[in-house]
Amino acid sequence: MESWGPMLRALLSGPGRRGGTRGWAFRSGQPHLPLAGLSSATELVNHWTGVFEKRGIPEARESSEYIVAHVLGAKTFQSLRPALRTQPLSPQQLQCIQELSSCRLQRMPVQYILGEWDFKGLSLKMAPPVFIPRPETEELVEWVLEEVVQRPRVEGAQDGPLILEVGCGSGAIALSLLSQLPESRVIAVDKGEAAISLTHENAQRLRLQDRIWMVPLDVTLAQKGAGHTSCPGAPWTWSSATLPTSSTRTWSSWPLRSAGAGYEDVAALDGGEEGMDVIAHILALAPQLLKDSGNIFLEVDPRQPELVSRWLQSRPDLDLQLVAVRRDFCGRPRFLHIRRSGP
Ligand SMILES: C[S@@+](CC[C@H](N)C(=O)[O-])C[C@H]1O[C@@H](n2cnc3c(N)ncnc32)[C@H](O)[C@@H]1O
Repeated sequence: MESWGPMLRALLSGPGRRGGTRGWAFRSGQPHLPLAGLSSATELVNHWTGVFEKRGIPEARESSEYIVAHVLGAKTFQSLRPALRTQPLSPQQLQCIQELSSCRLQRMPVQYILGEWDFKGLSLKMAPPVFIPRPETEELVEWVLEEVVQRPRVEGAQDGPLILEVGCGSGAIALSLLSQLPESRVIAVDKGEAAISLTHENAQRLRLQDRIWMVPLDVTLAQKGAGHTSCPGAPWTWSSATLPTSSTRTWSSWPLRSAGAGYEDVAALDGGEEGMDVIAHILALAPQLLKDSGNIFLEVDPRQPELVSRWLQSRPDLDLQLVAVRRDFCGRPRFLHIRRSGP
């Protein structure tokens, strides 16, 4: 723990976490869509599903179900009591559904429309342009948890795991690790002020704020020794990152919904020409940031494991070994476990 304090102070001497997440308001001049004669939740879901389908909105039924359920105070349409699905809605509820559906017609992701989303059982606030956590990332968290739990506890050690998360976004990974590992502490780094601010808000919402430190930091500047980023110690045993790993060439041709239809920050996805820009910086920083035998978990684009493996072979000076690659629930190689060798 000696090195934790100076490291924390050095990192925290950055620009601070002023500012807030960018809010959004309902747009004026929304298209007026006929609701006459529609009064129950089921009818509204059917109506908006049809409208969304006609306008080519992805996941039309799911979108309308989430919106209607949200207005009725439920997480999912399926969880609504049958009576609530058929009884008439109030004029305010109808108006609210209309406004939220108009946002969906503008292709705003449902997660931003609802303003919250579940990740590993935690309800997190969502706000554009902060990256919306993807379901496969839950698998990365599960893997880290498995490994942390299996690790033999060092005799006499009083502290729980110290975790560095790079690219925290809404705080999904950091906060789910904190909630599952009661003795752990996390430093969450992101270059986006909005991300840092949202992680902070989510930490408070979940009452986990005492074990997390948020640091606004562009890790690609850290290696160049920029002021507050010159880290004097190497305290972390665990590090996880879901960095931008898509190559500029491929992400720009993805369907709109993959990139949050222009609502999500593009910097959250673009990892440069080969998608390796940010990963390479993180790995090159590992000797400074990670304890001997410390672990790095990365979520990457399915093309990346091969590239990362080759990159590590070209940098034996870093003492990093690719220990394992895991596939996501679609069978794509997605998660990497890299370990720093001891002296
Ligand atoms: C793909 S998102 C992942 C967010 C979050 N971990 C999640 O799974 O929902 C990548 C995040 O990395 C951040 N990021 C991108 N480049 C960065 C850099 N050079 N330094 C620090 N953070 C960066 C972005 O702002 C974004 O929040």
